[in-house]
Amino acid sequence: MAEKSVSSDSLAMESKQEYKGKKLRMAIIGCGGIAQVHLAALQNFPDVEIVAGVDTDPARLKVMEEKWGVKQNFSDWKKMLKDVQPDAVNICTPNGLHSAPAIDASNAGAHVITEKPMAMNPKECQRMIDAAKKSGKKLAVGFQYRYHPNSEFLVRQREAGTFGNVMFVKCQALRRRGIPNWGVFGRKELQGGGPMIDIGVHCIEMAHYVMGSPKPVAASGNTWTYMGNKPSDVASMWPNWDYKTYTVEDLAIGQIRFDNGALLHIEASFAAHIEKDVWNFNLMGDKGGANWDPPAVFTDRAGTMVNETPGWISPKSDFPTLFGYKLRNFVDACLKNTPLRAPGEAGLAVQKILDGVYRAAEAGKEVKID
Ligand SMILES: NC(=O)c1ccc[n+]([C@@H]2O[C@H](COP(=O)([O-])OP(=O)(O)OC[C@H]3O[C@@H](n4cnc5c(N)ncnc54)[C@H](O)[C@@H]3O)[C@@H](O)[C@H]2O)c1
Repeated sequence: MAEKSVSSDSLAMESKQEYKGKKLRMAIIGCGGIAQVHLAALQNFPDVEIVAGVDTDPARLKVMEEKWGVKQNFSDWKKMLKDVQPDAVNICTPNGLHSAPAIDASNAGAHVITEKPMAMNPKECQRMIDAAKKSGKKLAVGFQYRYHPNSEFLVRQREAGTFGNVMFVKCQALRRRGIPNWGVFGRKELQGGGPMIDIGVHCIEMAHYVMGSPKPVAASGNTWTYMGNKPSDVASMWPNWDYKTYTVEDLAIGQIRFDNGALLHIEASFAAHIEKDVWNFNLMGDKGGANWDPPAVFTDRAGTMVNETPGWISPKSDFPTLFGYKLRNFVDACLKNTPLRAPGEAGLAVQKILDGVYRAAEAGKEVKID
């Protein structure tokens, strides 16, 4: 069942109602930075109980116990799955550790939501989908930008025919200087890549969603590493990153062709020599076009080119609120069997795009997808 383009506001309201039904017993696997944002959102969900935490770092587990009151904490997700038997797991480990706990959790009969990107490559994604299908449980990917009011506005415009056929989308996820100095974001073997898989994924997932999820068939692109692998004395947002273990790209540019003839261009960088950070996409259709930020539609009406902006748009677009929406959608899917906005199949399509750009960069030519 495909999800209708509902407003996120209705998703938020439900959590505020008094709840008397069954609670979803959820375990968190990977209790680091982003798990804290999940936990802050989940504490307002009356129908969720956090029953366990899993992390290899004891300091993270101490926070689970002391800050979030989680009593059962583990260093091994397999042991947690056996001892706790949660209804659902929420995977917030580095990218290289998304597929293994997801598959184990599905095999143990738990619903799964995993942080973005879904995994390291399309093969891992497919195995996750197969395991979830076999268990009959849900598999969701943490693509919160599908709940952003600007994305919802543009989905409605596409559904209303404002754009006609979408021909071209340009996505940009560019930081002037934002190489992460925590976690393992510079380590290709643990993350699968750099800015393309880490932040490009967000612009791709929302643009692909707004386009109506066409099938990617070919990719070209290039990647460059010129800054992250060296020490730097330039003042920046997150200084002193670990340049000695940095094996990912600083800049990636890709182009994706879809089976309906549309083209998507993506630029992603942790460190681009540009005026300022960009987080946006622009769309061109044969009847109309759009910008994601600020949200606007460009079309022709009554013999005139018109630029239209929404008269009102939900202001709820901050980081924790978007996480609340994506978690609300997942929890409802688990408890009430409602549709997921970002099921495993959506994660796989986005992963094929990411993987295509990386493969094309390595091959030095356009590569086929699938
Ligand atoms: N949706 C978003 O906007 C968003 C934002 C940031 C990060 N993320 C994603 O979340 C994931 C984690 O990122 P982060 O910033 O929280 O990183 P982080 O390094 O802060 O947290 C990762 C945690 O996983 C733990 N871990 C490592 N190996 C483990 C294992 N074998 N078992 C259990 N725990 C293990 C680490 O000890 C750490 O606490 C990444 O996939 C990242 O892409 C998503």
